[in-house]
Amino acid sequence: MADIAASMLAADPLRFGAEAKRALDAGVKRIHMDVMDGLFVPNLSFGQAFVKALHEAEPGAAQDVHLMVENPARYLSEFAEAGASFITVHQEATPHLQRALAQIRALGKKAGLALNPSTSLEGLKYLLDDIDLLLLMTVNPGFGGQKLIPAMLRKVADARELIGSRPIDLQVDGGVSTETAGALIRAGANWLVAGSAAFGAPDMAQALASMRGGS
Ligand code: DX5
Ligand code: ZN
Repeated sequence: MADIAASMLAADPLRFGAEAKRALDAGVKRIHMDVMDGLFVPNLSFGQAFVKALHEAEPGAAQDVHLMVENPARYLSEFAEAGASFITVHQEATPHLQRALAQIRALGKKAGLALNPSTSLEGLKYLLDDIDLLLLMTVNPGFGGQKLIPAMLRKVADARELIGSRPIDLQVDGGVSTETAGALIRAGANWLVAGSAAFGAPDMAQALASMRGGS
């Protein structure tokens, strides 16, 4: 079993608030907010104003903010003030990673570390006491609707071995669907980010239940 965070990147942008509510009503436990700067990733998305507006509309919903931006330390306090519950930074974009993770916790938020598909798990060994969440990109970041990279299943299993039973969420992001959820959960993921497979499903609640149960 795993829990699901719905990626708002796949939501109808004209109905942002209603789409978040639709996902929460269908059973997602967290709202995943993909922030992109057009530098770290080739795409642009949305910023802290969206996190704030959503927090005001749905104060009980935990927002998991995935910062795909260069030098995310510049924005940590802004996203914390906007109402994020989790703030996740990429190793590849953050020169002083341990400091950024500590800053997130000092702001009273849960700290997440994200790794691109080709980034090794070596650094993670030294950061296990600094994180509440490990986000493994299972596609190259920047766009929704991509296919899961099969080699990432082995990486999820390797990360699970390193994490063991520590209270760290092992989250996978990209290409999660009813076809891939089972293998990801068996490899050790306990949080799945779902964008197109959630918002694009004919019956969102049913799709979530099937992904959560790994089938
Ligand atoms: C991609 C983002 C993902 C994306 C996932 O860079 O980090 O969160 O929305 O989209 P799907 O679930 O459609 O692969
Ligand atoms: Zn994401």
